[in-house]
Amino acid sequence: MNRRFLFLLGSSRPGGNTELLARRAAEQLPADTEQRWIDLTEHPLPEFEDLRHDSDHVRPTEGSAGLLLDATVAATDLVIASPLYWYSLSAPVKRYLDYWSGWLRTPGLDFKATLAGRTLWGVTALAHQEREVADPLIGSLSNSAAYMGMRFGGVLLGNGSKPGDVLNDTEALTRAKTFFAQDAPLARFPYDRTEVRPTT
Ligand SMILES: Cc1cc2nc3c(=O)[nH]c(=O)nc-3n(C[C@H](O)[C@H](O)[C@H](O)COP(=O)(O)O)c2cc1C
Repeated sequence: MNRRFLFLLGSSRPGGNTELLARRAAEQLPADTEQRWIDLTEHPLPEFEDLRHDSDHVRPTEGSAGLLLDATVAATDLVIASPLYWYSLSAPVKRYLDYWSGWLRTPGLDFKATLAGRTLWGVTALAHQEREVADPLIGSLSNSAAYMGMRFGGVLLGNGSKPGDVLNDTEALTRAKTFFAQDAPLARFPYDRTEVRPTT
């Protein structure tokens, strides 16, 4: 089956470092791999309403929610391209993920079963030099993938503050070349890392 990559851009400015890095990685995808790019600021989601315990969520058919839901369920590979904001995901990405909670409870959608086995990837740019400050963002994506039964390809990190800075991060550009070629194992929660012991 041909893979279909959905890139969700979550920066609050166009043409930033996160998008530049994501595009570098995407350049390496095989020609028969579909790519769809959606900038979340061009399709703003209204404030998420938690109706889980009141009434059924209804499948959105129009507006930003309808577009993002359709694009999400059509993708084999979902790439969250979020800058590091306050050590975590940007607000537009966070709100998009909050919508997953509604889609999980939408009758007839089978959102979890549909996404299970598909792959979640992350791309982020950060100003901080020490990459471990991005651990909360990585943990959010990895745990979300585990919850959904998805594969997790990891997060491609690049350094930069003003737009274009990431193009000076040669290590990040090198990592971008092979990022999507990596194996993406089924995601696991941190408490579920059962050691694989060699048999004697
Ligand atoms: C609201 C906001 C919060 C930020 N928080 C962090 C942060 O926690 N850690 C960090 O290293 N950089 C932080 N930055 C810097 C951005 O991550 C950095 O400028 C990055 O290149 C922005 O990505 P973009 O160019 O794709 O928009 C922040 C920037 C903004 C606007």
